Amino acid sequence: MVKTTVVQTKPYTDQKPGTSGLRKRVTVFQQNPHYAENFIQSILAVIEPAERKAATVVVGGDGRFFMKEAIQLIIQIAAANGIGELVIGQNGIMSTPAVSCVIRKIKAVGGIILTASHNPGGPNGDFGIKYNIASGGPAPEGVTNKIYEVSKSLQEYYICPDLKYDISKIGRDTFEVDTRYGVSTFTVEIVDSVEAYAEMLREIFDFTALKELLSGANHINVRLDAMHGVVGPYVKKIACEELGSPANSAVNCVPQEDFGGHHPDPNLTYAADLVNAMKGGQYDLGAAFDGDGDRNMVLGKHGFFVNPSDSVAVIAANITSIPYFQKTGVKGLARSMPTSGALDNVAKALKMQLFETPTGWKFFGNLMDAGKLSLCGEESFGTGSDHIREKDGLWAVLAWLSILATRKQSVEEIMKDHWQKFGRNFFTRYDYEEVDSDAANKMIKDLQTLMFDPAFVGKKLSSGDKTYEVAISDDFAYTDPVDGSVSKNQGLRIIFSDGSRIIFRLSGTGSAGATIRLYIDSYEKDLQKIYQDPQVMLAPLVDIALKTSQLQEKTGRTAPTVIT
Ligand code: G1P
Ligand code: ZN
Repeated sequence: MVKTTVVQTKPYTDQKPGTSGLRKRVTVFQQNPHYAENFIQSILAVIEPAERKAATVVVGGDGRFFMKEAIQLIIQIAAANGIGELVIGQNGIMSTPAVSCVIRKIKAVGGIILTASHNPGGPNGDFGIKYNIASGGPAPEGVTNKIYEVSKSLQEYYICPDLKYDISKIGRDTFEVDTRYGVSTFTVEIVDSVEAYAEMLREIFDFTALKELLSGANHINVRLDAMHGVVGPYVKKIACEELGSPANSAVNCVPQEDFGGHHPDPNLTYAADLVNAMKGGQYDLGAAFDGDGDRNMVLGKHGFFVNPSDSVAVIAANITSIPYFQKTGVKGLARSMPTSGALDNVAKALKMQLFETPTGWKFFGNLMDAGKLSLCGEESFGTGSDHIREKDGLWAVLAWLSILATRKQSVEEIMKDHWQKFGRNFFTRYDYEEVDSDAANKMIKDLQTLMFDPAFVGKKLSSGDKTYEVAISDDFAYTDPVDGSVSKNQGLRIIFSDGSRIIFRLSGTGSAGATIRLYIDSYEKDLQKIYQDPQVMLAPLVDIALKTSQLQEKTGRTAPTVIT
């Protein structure tokens, strides 16, 4: 019989989950007594005691530093809290989309994902713990608020300190545990990290056509960069072993605790190695993924960049290339508010319903569960569909490959055709990372004061010879069409009379200081102008945004850390 220990603890006041779980420096989890234990106990507290015996919880992570310790704690604390079963990826490895897939497949009550996504790892990097619900999606605010409430008054937690489990071997064991709810049976199952997810993709895509594309007589060449994150084993198994892409087409595929010292974020700054490798011209498509495998960046030959806002629009316009949607039909499209309006143009042309949600994948889940949404995306390199309830990096790349296989054109040709047909939304995002929090908050507050002055609407703002007239100035609020819940303060929007938009918001996923995000979106249908450089096209709007917010003066930052 495994014994339970009751440990007295002190509550922490800073365990409020952000956009995507609780993210902190590794040192915060390591150095504060019981910090991880408290949060795990708080998560499990949201599963009703009466439901725990029959409850299965999926556990997996992106392989980052401290993950293995956290998984042992989850095993010990779940056992002591009377949870019936844990299903864990071998060695703890399971990508975020794979966790979502497994939760749905085995009808688990939820899952715990050990990741800080695209944030750096290692002893001085970030760690994160995220809870997903039975739908496979990130816990909605109602649930994360409950977790936070419990954490703020937690006095004790329950743990089986003697239960140490080897997560490196596939298999299953059952224990009798003496919990405070009586004797309960606790099962741990270690599963292959990739298999259930691969099986799902085989149903979604035409693997025969993809195999022909990647390894047939007229095959294209790809370069897939897993950035030392969790997606490596998935890329190896699916793209290389099954679809026949050569072994050397997949790079950085061994998950590392510190992502090789890099920032595992697939964008033009942090995936510079891929961008450089593509420039030589020997690859037709390049892709990179983030630490936990939910983000993706797609590049064409010579490094031609596909903006994520365009990526989801192209997939929507070519959706019949993907067998899954031929079966399910297309119920609706959605994008997060800061994402460019490229998807809106496709929705309009194809007469599909379009939803505009706040930032963060959790808002898409409700729409999917209600059968209103099939395909969605965010400008932050997130693309996905209702096959699961998370964005899905490898899915997005297979979606692009399906389009290449059907259209027999290059990435660049497909993108340019798209702009010719639908017009182009020029889009850029400026990130100012680790800004002093007080300075960032003050800048946003002052901007609100300016924007909410009734005289601001109708104002003409100029840069060089360009003038824009303010049509709408607000803080984006969203009413969920399914449950009626209202989410306020989701980003400051200045919308001009020509539809161009300037958006400011503070990140909800950073772990130190504040990250200010500035988004610019501007539509152009003049065929003479659609191939221009976005940074040139958008320069006047960027200038107006910086002048209006006085960002540089108020934060001391003369340049962003990342430009997309
Ligand atoms: C960022 C992105 C957002 C994404 C989230 C999780 O959140 O902007 O689109 O859903 O990461 O990957 P933020 O840091 O802006 O709150
Ligand atoms: Zn991620």
